[in-house]
Parts: sequence; structure tokens; C-alpha cells
Amino acid sequence: MAYVLGIDLGTSSLKGTLVDNDGKVRAIASSEYALSHPKAGYSEQDPKAWIRACREVLEQLKQQVADFTTGLAGISFSGQMHSLVLLDENFEVLRPTILWNDVRTTEQCEVIMQTYGSELQQITGNIALEGFTLPKILWVKEHEPEIWAKVRHILLPKDYLRWCLTGELAMDLSDAAGTLLLDLRQKRWSQALLEHFEIAPELLPPLVRSSEVTGVLRKVIKQEFGFEQEVMTFAGGADNACAALGAGILTPETGLVSIGTSGVFLRAQTGFTDHQGKLHLFLHTVDNYYYAMGVTLVAGHSLNWFRDTFAPEKSFNELLANVEEIPVGAEGLLFTPYLVGERTPYFDSQIRGSFIGIDARHTLNYFARAVLEGITFSLKDSQVLLDPKRELKRLVSVGGGAKNRAWLQMQADIFNMPVTTLKVEQGPGLGAAMLVTTGLGWYADLTECVDKFVVYGDTIRPIPENVDRYRRIYEIYRKIYPQTKVLCRRI
Ligand code: XUL
Repeated sequence: MAYVLGIDLGTSSLKGTLVDNDGKVRAIASSEYALSHPKAGYSEQDPKAWIRACREVLEQLKQQVADFTTGLAGISFSGQMHSLVLLDENFEVLRPTILWNDVRTTEQCEVIMQTYGSELQQITGNIALEGFTLPKILWVKEHEPEIWAKVRHILLPKDYLRWCLTGELAMDLSDAAGTLLLDLRQKRWSQALLEHFEIAPELLPPLVRSSEVTGVLRKVIKQEFGFEQEVMTFAGGADNACAALGAGILTPETGLVSIGTSGVFLRAQTGFTDHQGKLHLFLHTVDNYYYAMGVTLVAGHSLNWFRDTFAPEKSFNELLANVEEIPVGAEGLLFTPYLVGERTPYFDSQIRGSFIGIDARHTLNYFARAVLEGITFSLKDSQVLLDPKRELKRLVSVGGGAKNRAWLQMQADIFNMPVTTLKVEQGPGLGAAMLVTTGLGWYADLTECVDKFVVYGDTIRPIPENVDRYRRIYEIYRKIYPQTKVLCRRI
């Protein structure tokens, strides 16, 4: 048997998805690591922990699959986006990685937007946000000049792992797009941005396409795990781009709704569009495709928070068991999920969530339904921006939001669109594994690979009377943000 391995370097764990040449997932292994928050708003990680986790995952796969070391044909990578890895001239890590969810860089973002904002938007298709890489680089330059003086390589997490496994420096275009240093039209590092922000171009790795070869496993790694043949590695992509590929999102007709800790509504597009900073615009793992994306910062996490705070004794299944019996709109109870601020469509770090319309008859089940509806309405805000002409034909729902039938119906009704699930959901790791198959020439292109690898489950269709009711309720939901904005600032 021949195998391809997708390694997803996530925020809390590294996961390996091993797929055979029939497109069947043969084994999954994962290993967790910690996040540290040395100050409020800081979020950091030790890159060495990713390497330890990768070793553990390779070892677990070796134990699970008898012919893993003889059958593995190639590896590719998916990774948390934007997080900054800094190396010195000996490729030693200079400081803990500043992660995508670290928000220390508000000041740097303001300076970028005030001094070079319109150029940045023109070149990169995005505005400066705390999560992105460029503001983090500027923060290190300003606050840790002694470290900055030693920096010789700037990488993203999965590209540091690649270097450790192969000795090759490379970054794929989909992940490079999230640094805010890539010219998104020309698909090369932007000389103008590098000059303006005084970043030497030689600090950045060579750019490659997602299915391009990026070297073979180092001899020592081959020996450590007992691989007999050369194992090729391929560039891979940003986690959101790989998740989209793993869900078969290759054309602008199908959108992706992913409800995990945060929520993402994403759509592929063929060219560069100026979304005026209202949506993120990045490059897809599929050549010549971009994708635009809206993000709800606290999506599934709102439900965790609600359960932990108000019903800690209940499992999620118990909490949501009676949600279907509560009428659409929870009889006037509305929730906005802005528990730590919101990205799309407001980019407002100070707004906070609300329950509006609480009535004496509202019980826990009503609140649970209102939370699910509020999360879905916040993703509807992204849908409205991404698909103003209603060209999307269907949505693929993944993550926690796809695991509950009532919530899937709610998505179909609120988005007013058929919602399809995946039969076997493997997240970004599957997308990364798919990139190996085309790199190796198993399939002519990714469309052929999607046909073999991506198996869709049920499709849930909108119920017209629910659609009408939700349309009216969404109009009210939209008014909560402007009316609570000032209050939240005062609170
Ligand atoms: C995207 C973003 C997150 C990370 C999570 O802009 O910040 O989705 O990619 O890994």
C-alpha cells in the first residue's frame, strides 16, 4: 500500500492524517501542546513543542500501521496561520512564537494603517489586524531590538517544522498571504512593503506553490523512524485553505461554514477583489484561486462558555437535546456572540455580547437555542458580504456546527441555502494529504483528487416558513451591534 501523510500543526495540537492511495483514511494520530499567556492579550508557544509532537505522531503512526515506514510516499503540511517564528543564523529559535490569537499589536496596526494603510490594502488585499504577521514583526523590532538584530529567518509554524524535517526553507503562497508582506496579485514578496517597513528581503523564505516539492526527509529522521526509501515533502498550505480543500471547496459556487472555537465563512474566487478590508482575502492552495473569508471570533466557544457558566452539569448533547422543540427565534430572545470582541463585519475589539428580550417564560432551552441562532446570525453577516448577488449554490458545514442536526437545519434556514456535511471529516490534515497526491502525480489535478477523497454526507434543505421568520429576526439582530456599541465602550 502507498500512503500520503497530511500534518496539521494546529493551535493546541499537531495531528497526522494518513491516507492510502484509494483515498481512505488509514490512521490518525495527534499530540497536544500548551499555549502560554505571559501577559493579558499575549499568546505564545514554544516551537520545540511542535517538533516533539511531530515525533510522537510519527511514532504513533508507525505503531498503528504495519507498513507505514515502507509505504509512506510523501508528507505535506497545514498550519495555524500568521504566527511568527524567528530564527538566528544557526537556525536556533530566538523567542517563543507570537501566535495568531495574540493581540498585543494594536498600536502597530494603527501605525501601519495611518502611515501606509491604502498601499497595504492595494498590495495585500487586507487591512492590518492584530492577528497578522507584519504587526508582530514590527512589535519585536520596537520592543526587543536585541532579538531583532539577530533575526536571519522569518518563518510560519509549519515552515519551521518543514525546515526541521528536511533542512529546506520554503513558504507556500496560501500561508504567505497571511503575513501581510505578500503582493497578492503578483504572488511575490512585496518590495514596496519590505522597503517601507525596513525588513530585509533575505529574511523571508523562497515562495512555492502548495503542491510543489520542498525536499526529502533528513537522513537522521529517516534513520530515527526506519524509513527505507526517500520520503518527499510538499509545500502544503494555511489551515483555512487546507480545510477548504479537504471539504472540496474549489469553485465560487460552494461555500464553507466552519464552526469550531472561532467560526469561518469562506468562499473561493478566481481573481483579486478589493473587499475594502471588510473580509480577509488570501490565496487558496489551488493554483490561480483566492478565497475570501469572514471570521466570528467566538463561535463554538460561545456555546462552551454558556454551558460552563449556566449548565456545567450537562453534556453538550443534554444541553441541546430540546432545542428543536423551541420555536424559531426562541420567542423573542436574541444573543450576540461578541464575548471577546468581533472580527467580521465590525473589526471591533471592544464590543461585547448581549442577550436581548429576556422574558419570564424563557428557560435554559430557550437560551441554548438563542446561543446557536446568535452564532449562526454572526456568520450570516459574513455570508452577506461574501455573496451579495446570491451566487452560492450550497454550503458545506464542518466542525462542531455540523454535529447537531437541529443546528444544521438552523444553518440551512438562516443562510437560506442547502447545507451539506462531510461523511468523514478530517479537517485541514486531509487537505494537506491531498496536496501530496497531486505533487506525486497520483491525480492530474486537485479536482480529480477531491472526487476520490471527499465524501459528502446528508444535505439539509431550508424550510421556507423558517427562512421567512429568520429573515425578519436577522433584521433585528443587525440592529443590536450599533445600539450596544456605545454602551459597551462606557461599560
Ligand atoms: C485566520 C486565523 C485563524 C488561524 C487559526 O485569519 O487567524 O483561523 O488560521 O489557525
